[in-house]
Amino acid sequence: MENSQFIWMDGELVAWEDAQVHALSHGLHYGTGVFEGIRAYETANGPGVFRLTEHMERLHRSAAAYGIPLEWSVGQLVNATREVVKVNSLPSAYIRPLVTLGTGSLSLDPRACSTVTVIAAWQWGAYLGDEGVKNGISVGVSSWRRFSESTLIANAKGTGGYLNSVQAKLEALRAGFDEAIMLNTDGLVAEGSGENLFLVRDGGVLTPPVTAGILDGITRRSVMQLLRDDGIEVSEVSLSRSDLYYADEMFFTGTAAEVTPIRSIDHRRVGNGHPGPITLRAQDLFRQAVTGKLEAYQNWLDFV
Ligand SMILES: Cc1ncc(COP(=O)(O)O)c(C=O)c1O
Repeated sequence: MENSQFIWMDGELVAWEDAQVHALSHGLHYGTGVFEGIRAYETANGPGVFRLTEHMERLHRSAAAYGIPLEWSVGQLVNATREVVKVNSLPSAYIRPLVTLGTGSLSLDPRACSTVTVIAAWQWGAYLGDEGVKNGISVGVSSWRRFSESTLIANAKGTGGYLNSVQAKLEALRAGFDEAIMLNTDGLVAEGSGENLFLVRDGGVLTPPVTAGILDGITRRSVMQLLRDDGIEVSEVSLSRSDLYYADEMFFTGTAAEVTPIRSIDHRRVGNGHPGPITLRAQDLFRQAVTGKLEAYQNWLDFV
């Protein structure tokens, strides 16, 4: 983060160290906020922000779903993002928009609270490590279930919901795994702590449906389209824990994780323990698309 100087905050570019909120902000106490994670990639035409409008539309949907007032339009947020990447001279970036409730009340009725909107950007490498992207990571099924739609809004990026993900992540790391897979409250496979999950069986690609209580990931949709356009069958189906053990290949997708192969699940090897051909194909197509090398997907990039 040390390579970034300015953060966009409610319409102004402020110095990194001055982007502060009050200690009694509602969002700090109750997790009343929504956010996004976006990446910009280095391309021949300068930094290209991947599916920027879709991310800002999801931010708006998340805010509406959780009743967080968001006064900036998608267009304004898109322009602000471009500005942040540009002013920080970032060739590639991880971008973090956040809309969180500020001061005004610490009652559970948040209607008197101000809203703070922030967009930060900095250079950030592979979320699950370069080694993980290359050779795959180890995962374990978490004892924590992904919160259900009857508890919170699973298909929205609400800040408070991530207490659930953090518990799963910590448990996995303490058990010696790189990442967790969470089941939903029905015991069906949901997703990683911050990634969507795909598995490959008999040459077909399977991924849990959004109704499993997952985040409808933008990388997930992109990879589904890239694979389908490449002639590979992709189905959204309910998956059980045993499906994980019988998979020939398995991988995560996400803005932070990109396409990360999974080499073991609960100490059982996935396939031969190395990233398989469909995983490698998904990784390659995704990498080419995000770096502007595939003509057909140029409209996924917003050049700064
Ligand atoms: C819980 C969760 N699932 C899935 C994803 C992947 O979504 P996307 O590809 O839109 O980044 C993320 C990251 O945003 C996440 O936090």
